[in-house]
Amino acid sequence: MLIGLKEALEFGEKNNCGIASINTPTLEMLVATIKVAERHNIPLIIQHAEVHESVNTIENIGPAMVELAKRSSAPLVVHVDHGETFDYVKRGFDVGFNSAMYDGSRLPYEENLATTKRVVALANEYGYGIEAELGVMPGREDGADSTTGIGDESLYTDPDLAAEFVAQTGVTALACSFGTVHGLYKADPKINYELISTLRQRTGVPIVMHGGSGLSPAEYRECISRGVKKINYYTYADKAALEAVKQLLVDKPDTYVFVAAAVAAGLAIEKNIDTLVQCLYEGHVN
Ligand code: 13P
Repeated sequence: MLIGLKEALEFGEKNNCGIASINTPTLEMLVATIKVAERHNIPLIIQHAEVHESVNTIENIGPAMVELAKRSSAPLVVHVDHGETFDYVKRGFDVGFNSAMYDGSRLPYEENLATTKRVVALANEYGYGIEAELGVMPGREDGADSTTGIGDESLYTDPDLAAEFVAQTGVTALACSFGTVHGLYKADPKINYELISTLRQRTGVPIVMHGGSGLSPAEYRECISRGVKKINYYTYADKAALEAVKQLLVDKPDTYVFVAAAVAAGLAIEKNIDTLVQCLYEGHVN
């Protein structure tokens, strides 16, 4: 069933959970992710990032995401991830997404503020929640490694600006930079936990972690207890799928069936996401 962003985050706040927000640009990732949500009956966010348009356009994979979410027994949000323009967010709503992130974090502050306000006004017409971003998150969700920017506190979100931004835009949640990076970690993340607490307290809204794959269980739990309630996750599920396919070719070098690789990838993603939710929803999954 479909639920709103606000509702999913309220579950996170009430139960001290991080809501898993999984990018599902292929059908294997989508089906595997929904299976995990159904197995544990937990609210979960499936999302499509603009950077994945080259994998599948939102008009192609989007209707499958919306339809499978509606049919599912698990409570799911269908969310646009890193919409870089007002028009991209609107494209998501046009195919039935019921939540979005507008990402103007690389723009000058005033421009980010102005477009975020327009996106929130559009979402209000539908009654949808909006996530926006302030501060710069290094790397992208395209599988590349992100060595640059780790620990560069000049990129981290400024709490004064964040408080002003949330008050002026009315966003439901704010993605902040506090030490995680998108993509593969080539060096350990440098998480500023105090900053997360300050951001949560000053903004009054749940904080969103991007670059959320590749952390340790202890790091996830500490971030959640400080105020992170939405955890964006993609790269390490993708990596698990690729490793499973490589292993399949070692174990069965005569495999000439592409579908066998797709099945192996789907199973590996399911296992990877299941391990993640055991940690993010600690005490609420079996
Ligand atoms: P990872 O690259 O760490 O999986 O982060 C994904 C993400 O933040 C999507 O918005």
